[in-house]
Amino acid sequence: MSLKRTLGTCYYPEHWPEEVWAEDAARMADLGLTWVRIGEFAWSRLEPSPGDLQFDWLDRAIDRLTAAGLKVVLGTPTATPPRWMVDRLPDMLAVDAEGRPRRFGSRRHYCFSHAGYREECVRITTLLAQRFGAKVHAWQTDNEYACHDTVLSYSDAARQGFRDWLAQRYQSTDALNRAWGNVFWSMEYETFDQIDLPNLTVTEPNPSHALDFRRFSSDQVARFNSAQVAAIRRHSDAPISHNYMGRTLDFDHFETGRQMEIATWDSYPLGFLEDRLEDPAEHKRRYARQGDPDFQAFHHDLYRAVGQNGRWWVMEQQPGPVNWAPHNPAPLPGMVRFWTWEAFAHGAECVAYFRWRQAPFAQEQYHAGLLRPDSVEAEGYAEAAEVARELAQMPDVEQAQASVALVFDYASAWAWAVQPQGQGCDYFRLVFEIYRGLRKLGLSVDILPPDCADLNGYALVLAPGIVTLSAALNDALGRSRTQLILGPRTNAKTAALSIPTPLPPAIDGLAVTVSRVETLRPDMPVDMAGGGAVKLWREQIESSEEVIEKDLNGAPIMVRSGPLSYLAGWPDEVLLERILTRAVIAAGLDPQPLPQDIRIRDTGATRFVFNHGSEPVEYEGHVLPPAGLHWIKL
Ligand code: GAL
Repeated sequence: MSLKRTLGTCYYPEHWPEEVWAEDAARMADLGLTWVRIGEFAWSRLEPSPGDLQFDWLDRAIDRLTAAGLKVVLGTPTATPPRWMVDRLPDMLAVDAEGRPRRFGSRRHYCFSHAGYREECVRITTLLAQRFGAKVHAWQTDNEYACHDTVLSYSDAARQGFRDWLAQRYQSTDALNRAWGNVFWSMEYETFDQIDLPNLTVTEPNPSHALDFRRFSSDQVARFNSAQVAAIRRHSDAPISHNYMGRTLDFDHFETGRQMEIATWDSYPLGFLEDRLEDPAEHKRRYARQGDPDFQAFHHDLYRAVGQNGRWWVMEQQPGPVNWAPHNPAPLPGMVRFWTWEAFAHGAECVAYFRWRQAPFAQEQYHAGLLRPDSVEAEGYAEAAEVARELAQMPDVEQAQASVALVFDYASAWAWAVQPQGQGCDYFRLVFEIYRGLRKLGLSVDILPPDCADLNGYALVLAPGIVTLSAALNDALGRSRTQLILGPRTNAKTAALSIPTPLPPAIDGLAVTVSRVETLRPDMPVDMAGGGAVKLWREQIESSEEVIEKDLNGAPIMVRSGPLSYLAGWPDEVLLERILTRAVIAAGLDPQPLPQDIRIRDTGATRFVFNHGSEPVEYEGHVLPPAGLHWIKL
């Protein structure tokens, strides 16, 4: 799809005197910005007390911004219910796993299951959509669902909602008892009203109970979002989006993604490196001012899959140091431009910087903006200006289907989390390591949802760790001639999270039986005959298929039947590189191992080359400076 790429920023008119709005708007336009997102935390100013609607200031702010030629994304203010709301609905607060209500005094303190709060959100959203539906150019629902660990809530509202959800799903407690295996430890129920939430049990709760609670909680987010979407749609034709986060797995983003036109996400490369990744200290030190070389790219590719027709944005782009990670260094000069171009290379329609001006008060005082608190341009400003100039000259970055795809499944993340079987066995980590391995071979990757029914057009597809294959994907595997890698843990569980018989993976055309699983301490990897090792998770398999990887004792770790391979363990870096190189060649592609800091992204007609390092790197006759990138016509 061909589109002009744009820039934007996040602005809080309610934080600044009205006299500066027009000047701010003029400076934004001058900088070359197209979009400005506003309003997402402003409930206490839009409705200072119940029913006292104060929308005129927002109207004037929108007018000032649009008069300067900017387009407005209006956020619904529902991530920050004001104090009076909590006084009116004290049981709307989310409750943590220890049973403690979360308090007023920051944000995201609501429980998704609270019907009264959901109605309040529909009310304020409807009023905003009626008043501004024809004026704004896009919408954002709420702000960062799941951030600050806010999806799983153990409130009274959640308990009642969960019971109703279970009654719907199972129809009878007999069916539920059978599905969960409640005969074990005398956990059987006679009525749905006896079923509690799976917290505060003496030892671990039944994993089927815990998984259903996660499914229920994800559904609550989808339901909460769809109520707002419906309210907006009644009064506005503008596209709707939500700003997702990094490594946030507590709800199914594909589900909410189906409700809205655009997926957006908030990209904080330095904060994420510090607090979202398992990598060793040397890695974090090496990339402290640049961010992990693959983490942003992974989410760009993921949210391209979540957005309708591949439509996605970065709604918040880190413009300098943030305030919330364990350490908050400044980015290397050039990184703000670099991150922006990286997003465009992966297909972002817009990159919006968070925030326009640094706030001298409250929680985020040390979080950079494009402007300092005194309105002087901060470091990121000039880099944004440079991108704006470059965009004006750049022909469009047209996207194309990649040759390699990776299937991503939120439900599998929950199943792994509920039953990890060993410390460190985490679904995201497994998928992300494989994604990184593909990128290190110079590949561009598409991410596919777990119910994708068509793998055609891809030379190689990987679907690691999918605990229960969807019927659609199972079917697609059977029909496909694409090179496919499954495992570990593929089809390891029924939908109710029991071990199926015949034993997993039970895939047509693949004679493999997982007869036992073991998890490994970090200091006890199992070495492979061809070098490298299996770590963390290892399956013992019985198979009559061709063995392509085995351990030092000759036990199979990877087998192949035609284009279909099964991987019976979690590969370390060396083994992963060999497996991927072999698969890439079998798929008719050309693996190109890259220098450590280099990554590539191919679009329709352009190859982007990025140096994520803090030193210059020579690649294909071109010296890329630190934070350097260049593009060539393919
Ligand atoms: C995001 C959030 C913003 C701001 C920002 C700071 O997670 O959406 O409101 O808090 O982080 O980096």
